[in-house]
Amino acid sequence: MEKIFGARRKSSTGGYSPRAGESRLNRWNPGADGIVRMGEDEYWRAFICLFARPGLYWGFFMAVKADEKYIAISLKLAKKAIGKTSPNPMVGALVVKNNQIVGHGYHKKAGTLHAERIALNKARNLSKGSTLYVSLEPCCHYGRTDPCTRAIIDAGIKRVVYSIKDPNPKVNGKGIMELKKAGIEVVGCVLANEARRLNEVYLKYITTNRPFVILKLAQSLDGRIATANGISQWITGPEARKYAHRLRSYYDAVAVGSGTVRTDNPQLTVRLVKGNNPYRIIISRSLNFPRSINLLANNEDCKTIIATSSKSARRLKIKNLIIWEIKENKNGLSMVDLIDKAGQFGISSLLVEGGSGVATSMVKNRLVDKFHIMMAPMIIGRGIEAVNDLGVRDLEKAMRLREYKIEQMGNDFLLTGYPEVQ
Ligand SMILES: NC(=O)c1ccc[n+]([C@@H]2O[C@H](COP(=O)([O-])OP(=O)(O)OC[C@H]3O[C@@H](n4cnc5c(N)ncnc54)[C@H](OP(=O)(O)O)[C@@H]3O)[C@@H](O)[C@H]2O)c1
Repeated sequence: MEKIFGARRKSSTGGYSPRAGESRLNRWNPGADGIVRMGEDEYWRAFICLFARPGLYWGFFMAVKADEKYIAISLKLAKKAIGKTSPNPMVGALVVKNNQIVGHGYHKKAGTLHAERIALNKARNLSKGSTLYVSLEPCCHYGRTDPCTRAIIDAGIKRVVYSIKDPNPKVNGKGIMELKKAGIEVVGCVLANEARRLNEVYLKYITTNRPFVILKLAQSLDGRIATANGISQWITGPEARKYAHRLRSYYDAVAVGSGTVRTDNPQLTVRLVKGNNPYRIIISRSLNFPRSINLLANNEDCKTIIATSSKSARRLKIKNLIIWEIKENKNGLSMVDLIDKAGQFGISSLLVEGGSGVATSMVKNRLVDKFHIMMAPMIIGRGIEAVNDLGVRDLEKAMRLREYKIEQMGNDFLLTGYPEVQ
């Protein structure tokens, strides 16, 4: 048996078995006293082990950190287009050469250049031999724009680091394969959780053809969204209301039930911040509300949709109105069918703004993907519950939220979270 830098290796005969190309002398240099001493080259190898190998680990660690740093920047860039890219994802990209960002970009709007192409265009001939960082696997198909993989290969990129795979069936790993086939080193899953959260809307829509559903409610500490006589304006303060308008600008459509239409006469537009107006959906089987409501009177952009039963749809004669015929069930309109219709219409995200009846049906059917609950430090007592009876008689069956966070917003608190998967 012999000792090579602390490791013992035994041959089948119990003696030393040199590896191919190794001389016995190189590895084993016993002195006359039988004590193992190292030859000159062993000293070097020991040196390399003690210093160079930790150096290699350190180098690897630093490379991982650098990848994370640049992917974090690409995610930040991607987020600049929040609310503007639907039905496309938000994507950011960087071209990095010798630790310098030589090109960067983000996808601004569906139909416009992809982030990778903007970054490559900015980097010009510096792209050759560089690393491309991108928050989503590059596309490899012809859509409204040419495939990004082609542009990456043509630009002479040496290494691609991406955050998450694109589950779009037209891509789904094919982009990575194409890059690898072209001899490009590809590294994936860097800051994948952050990237998944950023594109939660896209990821759900592309894999299910159903919109990502967000329930937003403003409630008191005792869980009321209005007083007993239906007054809800205003439970929360100006900061929370401004945030609610920002949310409207992020998502494709906003929905309310007919009870809210009758009581609050909302406009459901973006007024307190800059941003695009979403589609506005009224959920009502009976159409029991005045025809003078804001959602019908101010519909110049033709973005008001009425989701109703087939029977009610037949008697609707209002100009510029989009009408969806929704299946019925014992609670009214089928929320599942509503979500399906929204997906088929091309709505990738739906912000549900109440009231209690619609919120209850959405939660009961487990259609909510994310909650935004604004809580005012106020107790109303008897009033309208945020969510009504869900048939929960056992706490085990109650819906719990995960990955939630609480932020202060003026005098109110915003709780954001996701339902526990059951
Ligand atoms: N604080 C807040 O964040 C907030 C937000 C919104 C509203 N509010 C308050 O909430 C109150 C209104 O709540 P609400 O519960 O009376 O009305 P709602 O939830 O706005 O609307 C309920 C109505 O939607 C229709 N609907 C159709 N299918 C349904 C289904 N499957 N499930 C549930 N509803 C369905 C029904 O009307 P049809 O018979 O026409 O089909 C039903 O009566 C108001 O006082 C308002 O001020 C508060």
